[in-house]
Amino acid sequence: MLELADVHTYYGESHVLQGVSLGVRAGEVVAILGRNGAGKTTLIRSVIGFTPPRRGTVHFKGVEVTRWPPYRAVERGMGLVPQGRRVFPSLSVVENLAVARRDGGRFTLARVLELFPRLAERAKSRAGRLSGGEQQMLAIGRALMTNPDLLLMDEPTEGLAPLIVREVGRIIGELKREGLSILLVEQNLPLALSVADTVHVLSRGQIVHSSAPGALMANDDVKSRYLGV
Ligand SMILES: Nc1ncnc2c1ncn2[C@@H]1O[C@H](COP(=O)(O)OP(=O)(O)O)[C@@H](O)[C@H]1O
Ligand SMILES: [Mg+2]
Repeated sequence: MLELADVHTYYGESHVLQGVSLGVRAGEVVAILGRNGAGKTTLIRSVIGFTPPRRGTVHFKGVEVTRWPPYRAVERGMGLVPQGRRVFPSLSVVENLAVARRDGGRFTLARVLELFPRLAERAKSRAGRLSGGEQQMLAIGRALMTNPDLLLMDEPTEGLAPLIVREVGRIIGELKREGLSILLVEQNLPLALSVADTVHVLSRGQIVHSSAPGALMANDDVKSRYLGV
């Protein structure tokens, strides 16, 4: 589904991603863990094209997409749930979903509202008036409206109460069962370990650990050195 090979990404002269290689197979959930500033968002930006890699390649569904503009990546089937949610505060819930609509897949407005009953109840509310958890559901729903094959999620549980974190975890599990491939950036270790098939730990722009979730859970050295737990 997605393959990064030796990706190097810069902001000006600042060399942030320093040779990242990883893959996401069809139907797989791959989690990227790492502290603030590790380069997790930059990794997502490199994949979708907001900050294209200066060196290395990104392949998506068998085609090289390195340096494609984001709109083309979305057209080809990437969906983004950005860090901080970024819903349109003055638009209603339904309007936020409708603007993202891209036909030709299983996710219609009705299907998204069925997946998130809370959004259905608040369909006409302005997004700016929703709780943090509801805004996160809306951000996920909006990405689904583009009918992606690969969902890029950047810290979807950031700042949310434990109960809502569990709900986000449940949704990720359900999307996985529907066959979506997911690249999940997280700082919440238990959440990532509970939903991911594979985990990578990023530190200073490099992958320093890759394994199945169970092996990371058992690795106190990596957890304390790179994740502060
Ligand atoms: N737009 C930018 N311009 C310059 N430096 C940036 C920019 N965005 C992020 N950085 C720097 O790149 C590094 C990685 O940031 P980021 O990818 O946002 O980390 P994370 O998402 O893991 O917290 C940090 O040192 C950060 O300060
Ligand atoms: Mg980030």
